[in-house]
Amino acid sequence: MQNLDKAAVPRHVAIVMDGNGRWAKKRFLPRFFGHKQGVDALVRIVQACLDREIEYLTVFAFSSENWKRPSDEVSGLMGLVLAAVSRYLARLGDMGVRIRIVGDREAVSDKLRAAWNEAESSTEHNTRLTLNVAFNYGGRWDIVQACRKAIAAGVPADALTEAKLSEFMAMSYAPDPDLFIRTGGEIRISNFLLWQAAYTEFVFSDCLWPEFGEAELDAAIQAFRTRDRRFGGVNPQPVAQGA
Ligand code: FPP
Repeated sequence: MQNLDKAAVPRHVAIVMDGNGRWAKKRFLPRFFGHKQGVDALVRIVQACLDREIEYLTVFAFSSENWKRPSDEVSGLMGLVLAAVSRYLARLGDMGVRIRIVGDREAVSDKLRAAWNEAESSTEHNTRLTLNVAFNYGGRWDIVQACRKAIAAGVPADALTEAKLSEFMAMSYAPDPDLFIRTGGEIRISNFLLWQAAYTEFVFSDCLWPEFGEAELDAAIQAFRTRDRRFGGVNPQPVAQGA
């Protein structure tokens, strides 16, 4: 066995925050209320990640496919994100969080784009935790946009290695996620981080996202610690080793 540190925390945690709609339905509330509670759950988990010295948290806030939802839910989510930025941006900034948006910004409103730009620029010097908000994001979109950028940069076909293409992926600045959590009971990746999750450890939780808190995060980290990460090799690698 190599230097296997079972106490290590993951450097990079990715979360599919699923179950907001069901959380609301159980309470006979419109789905929007579930998403609203989901924002509060996210802020709690950001604090929990800071406390555990996790360096990167990537959350799936709106997928390339979420446009297929009823238009009132889509506009509700857009409005909620705008409200969340104005409500929480200063607090997250004070907590030392750097916010980065990953996804196709072309299709979102000018207002939302401006809010994203403000969230990114006002937190760009923070270093404690990077919160990547995947919005209008899809793993397939990410791979295609990276290929397009590589072609536009003039990278010849025979020089387009995995490492080279990684330089053009939307989160090229971050190590690959160590731990991927999906709440809400579904067991699938739903087009999230397809490229980056090649050697990520997966934990699926039945907990609905608005109810996901520190205890559930710790349970996921504990499950992660029991895994032998071999990255395709034979010997276990330290659990928090990323890219
Ligand atoms: C999935 O639950 C959740 C979403 C599609 C939206 C998640 C977004 C947030 C929590 C808000 C994020 C806000 C910011 C500022 C980043 P679902 O609606 O699919 O739930 P269901 O499976 O129970 O129907």
